[in-house]
Amino acid sequence: MRRKVTVVGAGMTGGTMAQRLAETGYVDVVLHDIIEGLPQGKALDLAESGPVAGFDARVTGTNDWRDTTGSEVVVITSGVPRKPGMTREELLNTNAGIVRDVAGKAAEHSPEAVLIIFANPMDAMCHVALETTGLPKQRVVGQGGMLDSTRYRTFIAWEAGCSVEDVHAVVLGGHTEATMVPILSTAMVGGVPLTSLLPGERIEAIVQRTKNGGAEVVSLLKSGSAFYAPAAATVEMVESILLDKKRILPCCAYLDGEYGIRGAFVGVPVKLGAKGIEAVYEAPLAKDELEGLRRAAGAVQELVGLVN
Ligand code: LAC
Repeated sequence: MRRKVTVVGAGMTGGTMAQRLAETGYVDVVLHDIIEGLPQGKALDLAESGPVAGFDARVTGTNDWRDTTGSEVVVITSGVPRKPGMTREELLNTNAGIVRDVAGKAAEHSPEAVLIIFANPMDAMCHVALETTGLPKQRVVGQGGMLDSTRYRTFIAWEAGCSVEDVHAVVLGGHTEATMVPILSTAMVGGVPLTSLLPGERIEAIVQRTKNGGAEVVSLLKSGSAFYAPAAATVEMVESILLDKKRILPCCAYLDGEYGIRGAFVGVPVKLGAKGIEAVYEAPLAKDELEGLRRAAGAVQELVGLVN
């Protein structure tokens, strides 16, 4: 019996996550959606890739929550994506209704699961999921910082002309253009501080491109939002939980005094293991970075106040 992970939402992001998970070889994947046929079709297609891709995982597509029972991790990708020119915040009430419904049902069928929230505006949707499910805060974690950080690392590597493998840099704060905080003070390329490697204006361009990373893809695709990087970033989180790897990753967590922030989901370095968020780390940040985190907290609290 392999470990069971449910991906809710069989769109491009959910489908790509299911593929990456199945290809790990040790996960059985349930792909859930309300649209009849969509998760079943994707699951069948994916399962049929097993002999050549080299996995035996069971992949189930379903519209029935009972099939998700006993999942160790549930990733919620459901909700509408933004259109070109829209902000993530504009999706607030449409997606809040969807997340309330699916998070509730997911937790009902898998009460021991860790929920990973990816629906936008992600930080606010974490609040909705936590409130709806009543799960302990350690088991509701938002995916945003991982994605923003992989974009940040890509742009740094391109600019420095070096391997992405040697770029260690994180984006904390919120997962919106206005609240994202690409961290400069600790960004390193092979042990060399980013600030000593590239001129200030090039770093500023990288920071701006990172903040605009999701919108840049949306404006190119014209319909739908990014899914390859989101899927890869999320699967890294799922693996850290399932394998109890205790990776220290930038994720959205409910803060209770850390960084002087109370009662808000904010992107910070966390330890992800079998229990979900096993620790929140307070990194020594530059003054403006810390202020950025606090502004992100204020912004998400304000946004949550607008949820119907
Ligand atoms: C992004 C969206 C999906 O950043 O939030 O691509």
